[in-house]
Amino acid sequence: MCAINDHPLYLQLTQCLQTVRRITNFQPEIGVVLGSGLGGFAQSMEIETAVSYADLPNFPVSTVDGHQGRFLFGYVQGIPVVAMQGRVHYYEGYDVQQTAMPIRLIGLLGAKSLLLTNAAGGINTQFRPGDMMVITDQIGVFVPSPLRGPNIEPLGPRFPDMSQIYDRSLRQTILQQGDKLGISLRQGVYVQFPGPAFETPQEIKMARILGADAVGMSTACEAIAARHMGMRVAGISLITNMAAGILDQPLSHTEVNETAAQAEPVFCRLLSHALTACARQSM
Ligand code: HPA
Repeated sequence: MCAINDHPLYLQLTQCLQTVRRITNFQPEIGVVLGSGLGGFAQSMEIETAVSYADLPNFPVSTVDGHQGRFLFGYVQGIPVVAMQGRVHYYEGYDVQQTAMPIRLIGLLGAKSLLLTNAAGGINTQFRPGDMMVITDQIGVFVPSPLRGPNIEPLGPRFPDMSQIYDRSLRQTILQQGDKLGISLRQGVYVQFPGPAFETPQEIKMARILGADAVGMSTACEAIAARHMGMRVAGISLITNMAAGILDQPLSHTEVNETAAQAEPVFCRLLSHALTACARQSM
């Protein structure tokens, strides 16, 4: 077994960090991952520098429509933020450790908290497309752990606690911001499936029995990687469609993108307020 500082992933991460640091010495307070169709949030930022994933050595790049691949460094209402415009997914063929690389880089850049967003299918039959759900907890066991393999000690412990993976006070803060803006928010459990096929109706029934309210193909492994490093994590799912088998109609990526595009203005408004309020709480 290699010494931990020779861990190939850690070496790659430190090389990426050095590359970013040659471009900018921006110090983010908080990170945000912009999910499907939410890349327009960039317009709410006063951008200082953008760094393409393609310019970072050994860094995974997004291959999905609607996902650009770059970090944006800039300010939202005066708060220094790093935003991921486009993420990488397990289903793209990367292993799960690689999908967590951008998250770990955000941690190494100094962000104390992370707000994850995603497009998700509604499992809870009370939900409607266009709803926004503050994630209270997650089920991530259908994809491998991003922490699998030798533990990278400088990042965090071998057996990290996940009992408050989504930080309670950040959740409260987001709910308060929703209240203040008159945006009603749902709360619930997110389950990650591997994709890329949408789930079958029976898989959705299973997930409902397990207690899931929304399903997606990204966030759970990112939340684990962030929490491992001690970042405070919050998450908001935009319900873009009802999950398989709930309505008598097929699911499509087009539907996901269309609902996301429609909801984008409201979602962006919530996001800027949530982001700055969450960052202020950790400062
Ligand atoms: N399933 C999985 N991922 C998704 C869905 C869904 O129904 N909608 C948006 N992302």
